[in-house]
Amino acid sequence: MCGIVAYIGKKEAYPIILKGLKRLEYRGYDSAGIALINKDELNVFKKAGKVSNLEEFMLDQDHAGNSGIGHTRWATHGLPTDTNAHPHVSMDGSIALIHNGIIENYDALKQELVRQGYLFKSETDTEVLVHLVDFISKKENVWFGEALRLSLLNVVGAYAIVAISKNFPNQMVAARKSSPLVVGIGATGDFYLASDATPIVEYTKQVVYLEDEEIAVIKLGEELKIYNISDQEKTPYIQQLELELEALEKGGYEHFMLKEINEQPRSIQDCFRGRLNAKEGWVSLGGIKDYEQKMIQANRLILVACGTSWHAALVGEYLIEDLARINVEVEYASEFRYRNPILTENDVVIAISQSGETADTMAALELAKSKGATILGICNVVGSSISRITHAGSYTHAGPEIGVASTKAFTAQVTVLILMALSLGHKKGTVSESEFRILLAELEEIPNKVKKVLESNALIEQIAREYKDASNALYLGRGSSFPVALEGALKLKEISYIHAEGYPAAEMKHGPIALIDENMPIFVVATKGKSYEKVVSNIQEVKARKGKIIAVVTEGDEQVRAMADHVIEIPETNEFLVPLLATIPFQLLSYHIAVMRGCNVDQPRNLAKSVTVE
Ligand code: G6P
Repeated sequence: MCGIVAYIGKKEAYPIILKGLKRLEYRGYDSAGIALINKDELNVFKKAGKVSNLEEFMLDQDHAGNSGIGHTRWATHGLPTDTNAHPHVSMDGSIALIHNGIIENYDALKQELVRQGYLFKSETDTEVLVHLVDFISKKENVWFGEALRLSLLNVVGAYAIVAISKNFPNQMVAARKSSPLVVGIGATGDFYLASDATPIVEYTKQVVYLEDEEIAVIKLGEELKIYNISDQEKTPYIQQLELELEALEKGGYEHFMLKEINEQPRSIQDCFRGRLNAKEGWVSLGGIKDYEQKMIQANRLILVACGTSWHAALVGEYLIEDLARINVEVEYASEFRYRNPILTENDVVIAISQSGETADTMAALELAKSKGATILGICNVVGSSISRITHAGSYTHAGPEIGVASTKAFTAQVTVLILMALSLGHKKGTVSESEFRILLAELEEIPNKVKKVLESNALIEQIAREYKDASNALYLGRGSSFPVALEGALKLKEISYIHAEGYPAAEMKHGPIALIDENMPIFVVATKGKSYEKVVSNIQEVKARKGKIIAVVTEGDEQVRAMADHVIEIPETNEFLVPLLATIPFQLLSYHIAVMRGCNVDQPRNLAKSVTVE
């Protein structure tokens, strides 16, 4: 969380940094700030609230300068105030620094710096860093870049940092550990730095992703230099960005979330492009193909993830166990990493993560790797940290997801898991050739069927109007639609702030049923399949208590229509593929309810898209 962006070169830095901050706002949006070097002056501007507040404030400020750093914050230490906003500045006003991450030993460092006479203005852990850099640069008589390196030897925690000094106006230093940082190399000798590539893509496609404990030293007129924390020089690994600028714009939609929901026919298609051919009867996940035998013979596949990605993992568990008959466990990454799990070389741990940066998921993988397990990743962001530390992996190819509430990334994750289950099951012989071919053909039809579901938007908007003032909601599903229920409830909670819970439909009797009355909407996945009749009984139990039923049903279903208050039809498909369709009405419902309640759909309060702290 927190987004950082910086520029140094011949252009005006302010517009580049401001635009970059807007692109990174999904990472945190409770305060923002910019520091600019103009000749020998360092000017710092900070404002609580969104980047737009800062932008408005800057209208009457002098924002000249060819070098600068900017930050959009997701508060960890200290309230979101002007003072706590980054950049933080050394006491003599020469060095400014931005930081994404957490300095765990900040208290001990702070006490020592206070003893040395340093005065702290903010409540942040970051301010410790800038004073430490200043202290070391004076004590050791070294330039601020070297002082930053020496400071980091004393720091415990996670960081992506960029620092500038008015005494060295043509230089910039950056460092990373556990929080992401990308350096863009411009064609005219200028440099762009950011938490991800989105602020950089319109200026250059040549980038270097910093590795843990690497320091980037930029001096105008020279090549980019990379050092490790022990000061040994490393050769920068320059990569070509594949990201396109259009993918980062709203494309005529009112919100990114709506755009991303509507992109799903294409994003699912992109996810299986080149990986599946129903006519020829094959599926291939190139990235993990060398590990498939290992997966087939594994003790267990352990899927670790957080948030929406954890829900995708649960869908994966149903699919892989059923189709490939391999033992699967699903773990919250945050619990797994601290539980001293029993892991062996015969376990395969698969992380699922949209951003590829989630701190808990990364730590879970590192732990698994240290115990000898094979680690794989299913990530959306190309070049992300998880994709780089894993032995192998499969990208979801959903394209950039900007809305904080995950939508198209979820369906793409589920698509990869379906491909994985099919590929493993086919190789192992647990899926017959005929079932395999039927499923492949059905999967190829999914993008068209998703389009069909999206056509129910007007009906869903109407239903949303009816329930927008609810204070509680229940989501029910069975089998692989149980995670769909969890995901539906999470979407509603995240963006509309209505309390919602997801349950396996049969568990309703063991608690939630006590909450049901005529004011309680209950959203149910009641599609045709193994558990259909059971879910119908659950619907009757709800109706007997006057609850309101909104059911997602298979096209043409009359039985549930007769009982429910509202039905939303989805096209018939193979039961394994239902999550890809059933999840979409819930995304649209949450979206419309949130809009009607006047909530900030793309940037819900207190949340951030990329959670790089524990
Ligand atoms: C945050 C986001 C969620 C996301 C979760 C896991 O909570 O708001 O949308 O599902 O992190 O993120 P990841 O990038 O690992 O999928």
